[in-house]
Order: sequence, then structure tokens, then C-alpha cells
Amino acid sequence: MPFTIAIDGPAASGKGTIARALAGHFGFAHLDTGLLYRAVGARGGDPVQAALDLSPADLARDDLRTAAAGQAASRVAAIPLVRAALVDFQRRFARQDPGAVLDGRDIGTVICPEAEIKLYVTASDEIRAHRRALELGADPAQILRELRERDARDAARDVAPMRPADDAVLLDTSRMSIDDAVVHAIALVKGAGA
Ligand code: DC
Repeated sequence: MPFTIAIDGPAASGKGTIARALAGHFGFAHLDTGLLYRAVGARGGDPVQAALDLSPADLARDDLRTAAAGQAASRVAAIPLVRAALVDFQRRFARQDPGAVLDGRDIGTVICPEAEIKLYVTASDEIRAHRRALELGADPAQILRELRERDARDAARDVAPMRPADDAVLLDTSRMSIDDAVVHAIALVKGAGA
């Protein structure tokens, strides 16, 4: 039986790092679903067609991690037909042996409501902006504005808004080192039977 770990949360909360570490620890596959939306935004043209045509080469582009790519991703992610075009791929990925970790905004609520464990990873706005600014070498105040704009759009959209599933475990990483957050997440996943 495949074991699915669903991880959601806002930008720069630490969810990607935790997802990668969990995948490594348990020997599971990992899918950063934000990358799908970033790749759709980066292709340009009609976003629905871009989502339908998405290929592995699109995900390998080296310009997907920029703040501009994040904003473009958040905009195309609000289009219902874009999201619909990406559902089957994500669900198939989630159901592979021995298990899979998916991180995003709607994994526990829409893509994998049956996941064996759901984590919702958060951190304060300021801490998230600080982390992202260090990562991108950018101005923290500017990053803070962009994160808030993006989170507000992601949480307010009609289809699959960012929110914790009712049965998600909340993990606030504001006052944790990433190592502590990973140790905590591993214990939660083991507790769920992995
Ligand atoms: O996780 P990220 O910052 O790479 O995501 C980029 C954008 O993609 C995010 O602002 C909203 C969108 N997204 C989404 O709507 N649903 C997901 N499962 C993952 C990302």
C-alpha cells in the first residue's frame, strides 16, 4: 500500500525543505507541486494550454525559482482549468510505492484528501520573508510585500484555496531550526504508520 504525505503551507514556510527531508528519510518520491504552476506561468501564452502541454523539460528550467516566477505561478494557479489539467498527474504521483511526499497549497484538501498524513507548515510573515530574502539575496521588505500579496491571492481564490485540511497537523516553524522541524515532522509521520 503506498503511503502519501501531504504537506501544505504558505511560501517560504519551510515546507519544501521538510518535504525533501521526509522523502529522503523514508525513501519516498517527492513532488514540489509549486514547480508545476511556476512552469505553467513561465511558458507564457495561454495558461490552460501550457498546463495541458507541460513536459519534464519545462520543470527543468533554471528560471523557476525567482520572485517573478512565483507571482506568475500564483496568478495562473487561480485559473480553474489550469488546476484541473494538473490533477491527474499529481494524484498518480501520490499513489506510488513505497510512498510519496507532495508539497503545495491544496494537497491535503483537494489532491490527496485520503493521504495517510497531512502537515500544514507555517511561520510568521517576517520570518518567512527573512528566509526567502537570504535565499534569493533580495531586499526583505520587498520580499515581505510580495509574499503577503501572493499568500492573499492563494488563500482567496475560489478553487482550491490555500488552507489547512480539517485533519492536518499544524507545524509552526517560526521558532524552530530547520533540523528541529524535520525531526518533529519525521516523528509525526512515523506516528501515522510510515
Ligand atoms: O510553492 P511555490 O511558492 O513554489 O508555489 C508557487 C505558486 O503556485 C503559489 O503562490 C501558488 C501556486 N500553487 C498552488 O496554487 N497550488 C499548489 N499545490 C502549489 C502551488
